[in-house]
Amino acid sequence: MIHVKKAFVIGHPIKHSRSPLIHGSWLAEHGIDGSYEAIDVAPDALPAFIERLRQGEFVGGNVTIPHKEAVFALCDSVDPLARTIGAANTLVRQPDGRIHGFNTDYMGFLGNLDQNAPGWAAGLGRAVVLGAGGAARAILVALREQGVPEIVLLNRTPEKAAALAREIGGPFIAGGLTDYADYAAGAGLLVNTTSIGMHDTRFEALDLGLLPGTALVTDIVYVPLTTPLLADARALGLRTVDGLGMLLHQAVPGFAAWFGVRPEVTSALRAKVEATL
Ligand code: ATR
Repeated sequence: MIHVKKAFVIGHPIKHSRSPLIHGSWLAEHGIDGSYEAIDVAPDALPAFIERLRQGEFVGGNVTIPHKEAVFALCDSVDPLARTIGAANTLVRQPDGRIHGFNTDYMGFLGNLDQNAPGWAAGLGRAVVLGAGGAARAILVALREQGVPEIVLLNRTPEKAAALAREIGGPFIAGGLTDYADYAAGAGLLVNTTSIGMHDTRFEALDLGLLPGTALVTDIVYVPLTTPLLADARALGLRTVDGLGMLLHQAVPGFAAWFGVRPEVTSALRAKVEATL
């Protein structure tokens, strides 16, 4: 009997996910007899789907919006880092059917910056993170674990920034987007974790000219690839890293766990995904 290892990405909606293209490319490249499919799972169908995983239909998969937090309660074990972040985006079925959850957004964020702005964390005194939603969580933990001495968390709703800073714990200063000017001057890194940048939206009154000339600006939005924030930063001569690399790098640990090969994020893979944006 041929045993095809099957993996998935579940979300709701899910049809625009680029993950099948990424994992499909790696499966082909490594000649692995496996599959990776996008499956639309509504929130009320999540427990039943996880049971299918437990029963052995799949080796594991990715979990995306809106399930990253809910899936927690359905895992049999959760990686400590995922617990700190408060979300799991990758599931692995153990041989005994138990489901282990972990979070690869953390490594995706770091892998992207390490590849595209090597040495970015050296001597970094302050990072400014915009947004305090689900996507900010892994990034805050990643910056904290890198030893960034001051991490300023600014959100449209300042109370949410304060609550997240308290929950995660670290060298955080929380505030509103309107406090940006107070912190920009010393910020060596500016990260957008909000959805602003999609659909032609842009930050109002965010003067990138206040950042040091050596600052690095990065965005987790990758549609469009060059968000208005990144375009403005480039126009000022600042270094930028776009969000596509985070998507590519967060896929690596899951693939390695399910299929036993650690894949590479190559420029050819990036170009292939970029062509679909
Ligand atoms: P995700 O899980 O993708 O991070 P989310 O949890 O809904 O999504 O968080 C979205 C983030 O984008 C939040 O920080 C949100 O700010 P609020 O907490 O004030 O809602 C931010 N955001 C979304 N639209 C925004 C807008 N038009 N202006 C400013 N911030 C916005």
